[in-house]
Amino acid sequence: MRDKIKDLFNKVDQYIIESKEQAEQFRLMFLSRKGELSNLFNDFKNVAAEDKKEIGLLINQLKDKIQQRYDDAKNNIDNTSTVNTNAEDYTRPGFPFETGTSHPLTIIRQKIISTFENIGFTVASGPEVEDDWHNFSALNFPENHPARDMQDTFFIDEKFALRTHTSSVQIRLMENNKPPFRALMPGRVYRNEAISARAHCFFHQVEGLYIDKNVSFADMKQTLLYFSKEIFGEQTKIRLRPSYFPFTEPSAEMDVSCFICHSKGCSVCKHSGWVEILGCGMVDPAVLQNCNIDPEVYSGFAFGMGIERIAMLKYRVNDLRLFSENDIRFLKQFNAANE
Ligand code: PHE
Repeated sequence: MRDKIKDLFNKVDQYIIESKEQAEQFRLMFLSRKGELSNLFNDFKNVAAEDKKEIGLLINQLKDKIQQRYDDAKNNIDNTSTVNTNAEDYTRPGFPFETGTSHPLTIIRQKIISTFENIGFTVASGPEVEDDWHNFSALNFPENHPARDMQDTFFIDEKFALRTHTSSVQIRLMENNKPPFRALMPGRVYRNEAISARAHCFFHQVEGLYIDKNVSFADMKQTLLYFSKEIFGEQTKIRLRPSYFPFTEPSAEMDVSCFICHSKGCSVCKHSGWVEILGCGMVDPAVLQNCNIDPEVYSGFAFGMGIERIAMLKYRVNDLRLFSENDIRFLKQFNAANE
């Protein structure tokens, strides 16, 4: 009897079960009413009383082993067969891959950059923590002059502040290179303003600089007209209103004809037919001098605009805070491919 049980242990170990049919044969051979296990229990009656305890234990161990072997094999076969059937089903719908979208400010920034790249502008960058010279003094803001209050500044210490505009990059570019210049300065800027739907303590700008021999106000006007048509549509008109910036003379603010109501009057243009887009002007000779560029030989223009403002107008967004709150329901609505 002991030998028989030992044999059966080996037989169970060596039995190959790789298919449903083999599993069924295994069950019939070992577990069915006429199977090996059942035979053993029948023979158990004839075991001598003093051996009953030991043999009974062995039979029970064998029974557990058979059951375990059968359950494991069945599980394996079931799992493999599911994977197999699925892998072969080429009609199954694919897994959804959600692609992200570009941030609206990124879309507008790229559009502005590529518009100017088409007419030969390059892109320049500089630090967000700036010294007084690059953010103010070199740009012709005299010390203690009220013009410095035009932009509420976050000071870090006596010497450094968070840049209030990317005009500081114009100075860095002119200091370290030789004219001519035709460059764009996109970047984040900071102003100490209370956060509301219309103002934030940081926003994004694109400024531009064009310096060469014989550059005139008319060149600036033509460049900005080209830009406005590219961004707001072929029928767009521009107008320049006199303004003041310490670093440009003369200075102007540029409006575009309202691209929403086509100047018929709407809430966006406040029924004036025009919307303000950017500041611009001819670079002040004092600024050129500060950067060791001879204003008798070179002249040029500069302009600067807020990316948020253009994005708000183009996408009809009425709250500036939406751009920095990262609400996925807002961000999902923008698609660079449609631009
Ligand atoms: N730096 C100005 C601003 O931030 C914008 C500007 C740039 C105006 C260049 C004129 C020329 O408000």
